[in-house]
Amino acid sequence: MNEYTLITGATSGIGYELVKLFAKDKDNLILVARNEEKLNEIKNDLTEKYGIDVVVVPMDLSIIENSKKLYDKTKELNLKVVKLINNAGFGDSCEFINCKIAKINQMIDLNMKALTNLTYYYANDMKENKYGRILNVSSVAAYLAGPYMGVYYASKAYVMNFSIALAVEMKKYNVKISILCPGPTKTDFAHKAEFKNENSFNKYATKPERVAKIAYKKFRKGKLVINPGFVVKLISFGTRLTSRKFAAKRSAGLNNSRVK
Ligand SMILES: NC(=O)c1ccc[n+]([C@@H]2O[C@H](COP(=O)([O-])OP(=O)(O)OC[C@H]3O[C@@H](n4cnc5c(N)ncnc54)[C@H](OP(=O)(O)O)[C@@H]3O)[C@@H](O)[C@H]2O)c1
Repeated sequence: MNEYTLITGATSGIGYELVKLFAKDKDNLILVARNEEKLNEIKNDLTEKYGIDVVVVPMDLSIIENSKKLYDKTKELNLKVVKLINNAGFGDSCEFINCKIAKINQMIDLNMKALTNLTYYYANDMKENKYGRILNVSSVAAYLAGPYMGVYYASKAYVMNFSIALAVEMKKYNVKISILCPGPTKTDFAHKAEFKNENSFNKYATKPERVAKIAYKKFRKGKLVINPGFVVKLISFGTRLTSRKFAAKRSAGLNNSRVK
């Protein structure tokens, strides 16, 4: 049975940059996102360049049943997933009481539920195979509470704590978990989060190629928490020294300036 790396959110930003790095190292890939046309373009490009097998699954992972459908499909096709990259996710910039509740629920379903369900199904197989690697994409937002993006920050704190707990449980099965905590990164994120000043966010943001390169290198080494870049390291350290309330107030100022 051929081995595969499954990557969610494979069509743009950090996910797409990770896709290219895994492909370059000749991993066979299962790519998931909603945009079928983009997935097929990527598939054609990578199969031609690297001669790897690329399976695309166009799917909305914020629909809860789809995580199991994705897992069943990979079983049906006899694809052995040895690396799982839970990257798909998005944010929302709004005062909580004014947010659209449907978008908030979609965020909870994608950022937390889909990630948890996919991890559950594939981690069980990895245990059976006595090998596996999982990379869960969190954020620097995991280190503090973020007024005006409260649910997003909390969803990333969930990813962080869940993944650290899982890493402890899975060590005995030779399944390693890594958590990636990017800071502001120049992707479609700011647009989808409906930031007022999308351009100024992107102006100072890190390129996704750089975030992916650091993530890929550290993931391969089995590092647990991957803080890409100096600013993220500073925030992860600094938030340990300040009160949670102080950190939340500082982040409130920044996040509120982005609300439309
Ligand atoms: N950019 C940042 O500043 C930043 C910072 C910290 C953490 N992160 C995290 O990094 C991860 C990747 O985000 P990004 O910045 O690279 O954003 P992005 O450019 O918007 O990429 C998001 C990817 O997820 C896919 N996706 C979105 N909704 C989906 C759904 N319902 N079902 C399946 N796939 C879906 C998108 O493809 P389709 O639209 O085709 O579905 C796309 O491939 C996210 O978890 C994000 O929270 C980003």
